[in-house]
Amino acid sequence: MNEPEIKIKLSYIVGLKPVVLKELKQLNFQILDEIDESTFVSFSDDLFSKIKHLRSVARAYVVLQSDKYHPAYLSKHKSVLGSLIGIVVEGDKKAFKSFRINCAGSDSSEVRSIAKYVQETYELEEREEADLKIHIIKPEDIWEIGIQITPRPLSVRDYKVVNMSGAMDPTIAYSVNSFCNLDQASSYLNVFSGSSTLLIEAGQSFPNMDKLVGFDNNKKHLSLSVQNIKKAGLIKRIELREADIFDKPDFGKFDAIASDLPFGMLISKNEDLEKLYKTFVEYCEKKLELRGRLVVYTSEHELIESILLKSHLKIIQSLQLKLITNANAYLRPKIIVCELKN
Ligand SMILES: C[S@@+](CC[C@H](N)C(=O)[O-])C[C@H]1O[C@@H](n2cnc3c(N)ncnc32)[C@H](O)[C@@H]1O
Repeated sequence: MNEPEIKIKLSYIVGLKPVVLKELKQLNFQILDEIDESTFVSFSDDLFSKIKHLRSVARAYVVLQSDKYHPAYLSKHKSVLGSLIGIVVEGDKKAFKSFRINCAGSDSSEVRSIAKYVQETYELEEREEADLKIHIIKPEDIWEIGIQITPRPLSVRDYKVVNMSGAMDPTIAYSVNSFCNLDQASSYLNVFSGSSTLLIEAGQSFPNMDKLVGFDNNKKHLSLSVQNIKKAGLIKRIELREADIFDKPDFGKFDAIASDLPFGMLISKNEDLEKLYKTFVEYCEKKLELRGRLVVYTSEHELIESILLKSHLKIIQSLQLKLITNANAYLRPKIIVCELKN
């Protein structure tokens, strides 16, 4: 029987698959298979560093799949797992000091003997919060062994010096921007900029964008933003302003407007969300260039959709996502893409 080939498994936020597939296509990845919210691409040494820079993907793993890779088999053929560990640890030994094995029956003698092998061969300490994350699972009808290729998820960005409560997941920010046609745009406005995730993702993905502007009415958020923007090396390119949408600030017209709309607890108790969204839509109607794109992200999509319906903007596409909050509840926000009606 042929030995199974090493693959890269990519996982991402539920609903982002079209964005992930587009990014993979742009970077010439060869897609092998797709299941639920995971996509498999072929493995090669030169693709490995490219994978670490994917912007729409939350986590990447090197994996092997075979009917025979159950813990009992692996405990007798430890080098199978060793070959995967070698790929991940090689070249970045300092990043990995600890390991964890995620496997049903992790106290069994088989799994314990695998853990002992990893500990002794790679001089790693077994820990709950570990750098090297190993899984031995049977998600469907085949066993899978895999290792996350980076200690932190790919969605954790180096520029996040501070994590503002309510800040956007960077893979969602990348996705919102991916609908803005930024390759054809020279100006980008981020209304309700918060800690500037959207602005930084746009600035990093489009180094030639002429005009990147963001505004927010919260001083604390603006100062967190400046720290993130500095860390991202974009302080000279991003123009950040303190402004309230109700004052209709004038920064000119834009080819693209992107916004992570305030909702729920993130908007002050006395503020009327409907009034805020109406003001926002009226503002965008005036500030968007004729053939520009407006892309919004919100959990309050029914409200924004009803307002957009009565506006000069038309919805041309939307994407429903599914997220788990820290409180283990589900959020079903949407990315909504709009253009001005002719
Ligand atoms: C959902 S957060 C944006 C988070 C941002 N995308 C990030 O990743 O950090 C919404 C932002 O809208 C701002 N905001 C709320 N009401 C506003 C108003 N009337 N004018 C301007 N900004 C406002 C809040 O201060 C908050 O930073």
